[in-house]
Amino acid sequence: HVAGPSGLVIFGVTGDLSRKKLMPAVYDLANRGLLPPGFSLVGFARRDWADQDFAQVVHDAVREHSRTPFREEVWQQLAEGMRFIPGDFDDDSAFKLLKQTVDELDAARGTSGNYAFYLSVPPKFFPKVVEQLKRHGLADTPEGSWRRAVIEKPFGRDLESARELNALVHDVFAPDQVFRIDHYLGKETVQNILALRFANQMYEPIWNRSYVDHVQITMAEDIGIGGRAGYYDGIGAARDVIQNHLLQLLALTAMEEPLAFDAESLLTEKLKVLRSVRLPDDLGAHTVLAQYATGWQGGEKVVGYLDETGIDRASRTDTYAAVRLEVDNRRWAGVPFYLRTGKRLGRRVTEIAVVFQRAPHSPFDAAATEELGENAIVFRVQPDEGMTVRFGSKVPGTSTEIRDVSMDFAYGESFTESSPEAYERLILDVLLGDANLFPRVEEVEESWKILDPIEEYWARNGTPAQYPSGTWGPKEADEMLARDGRSWRRP
Ligand code: BG6
Repeated sequence: HVAGPSGLVIFGVTGDLSRKKLMPAVYDLANRGLLPPGFSLVGFARRDWADQDFAQVVHDAVREHSRTPFREEVWQQLAEGMRFIPGDFDDDSAFKLLKQTVDELDAARGTSGNYAFYLSVPPKFFPKVVEQLKRHGLADTPEGSWRRAVIEKPFGRDLESARELNALVHDVFAPDQVFRIDHYLGKETVQNILALRFANQMYEPIWNRSYVDHVQITMAEDIGIGGRAGYYDGIGAARDVIQNHLLQLLALTAMEEPLAFDAESLLTEKLKVLRSVRLPDDLGAHTVLAQYATGWQGGEKVVGYLDETGIDRASRTDTYAAVRLEVDNRRWAGVPFYLRTGKRLGRRVTEIAVVFQRAPHSPFDAAATEELGENAIVFRVQPDEGMTVRFGSKVPGTSTEIRDVSMDFAYGESFTESSPEAYERLILDVLLGDANLFPRVEEVEESWKILDPIEEYWARNGTPAQYPSGTWGPKEADEMLARDGRSWRRP
């Protein structure tokens, strides 16, 4: 799967995402031989840079963040196709220059009019950039070529703003030209969920309400908000990652087998799940929002959320959120899906745990199974990529005692191939026009429909609980599960 003749234009090229993820991903793709020889990279930003300055910035980013070894000949070939357009988004002359540059690259590097425009900019600039692309003929697809738009979340902050944003983008680009990035879908382990479920026979028969007690989806981070106060405050954990990453994980865990492994069939099945999601009647009892307080992390004292630079001392923004959802269909009716995420938690880990019911009957006496926990299948998304199956086993010895053990599959042990970075896979797929790993507009809107009532409830009633940094979240979250007779896993 090598991309055909093409180029990538990045708006907001001076941002963090571009430096840490996009530029290194482009280089890694080139290094793996997945880009065409004439591939071109155009940066657009408000800087007084010449092409060489831009190339130098990319070079430094690549040296610092790329996954694959640095090879001078690969770099040289890539660098020859780099151009920089200085200007802001209001600036017509900058967009004229962009148009000329794109035409020049078609002639000089054979990009054949195939361009992806990557909007790595805050959403407030989306309208302007999209309008300018249209105005300057950059969104018009030349005969036999393609034009695509890549947009990064946040796709709005609620259903209404998401709809406005979508209307605006779709006014210029057709639905199949728009690629929305949810970088969790680009992760190797996330793609593996469907492979494990549907390429094998042994999971599906028990993947339902007859055997599963509940599902826990955890996305824990040890970092705080860093320098992102401007983006994060007023948005919070639930909008930042539950609306997108966690609901996508839920959809992949709960969906039916797609008719085929293509974008259309995947969308159909994911949408069915999202549309079946039911919120708890009592949102107060089954959701928790919280903020990190001061605490210890990695041996260092860290400040609480309200003391972070740029945060309003009265902010009620959640840095931790936990919700109980149900998937109201024949397969899952009555099985709770607990989703939680937080910053400044014990450690960085993302996992999906499918926890099974107790055996309906045990021939062993009660003492023998005292230490037996619940059977579980855990997809370890990161950082320790793999899968764990937990079950009871007889403890060696003359008495009968059954204790939990686990069986692990680890990527590092089973594969010699290394996992590409999520952005590598996603950028390549944009250039190939493969939409499987990109949430479509319907999924984004459906996900907001799930989150909006929760956010509205919190806005009316919620005062965030507090949790010390470096712990596993607020006691209210433990109580939320305890009320259901369950407890959170300690990954
Ligand atoms: C982003 C969120 O989507 O995902 C960030 O905006 C979060 O707040 C990040 O830190 C986590 O990504 P990853 O790949 O490190 O788990």
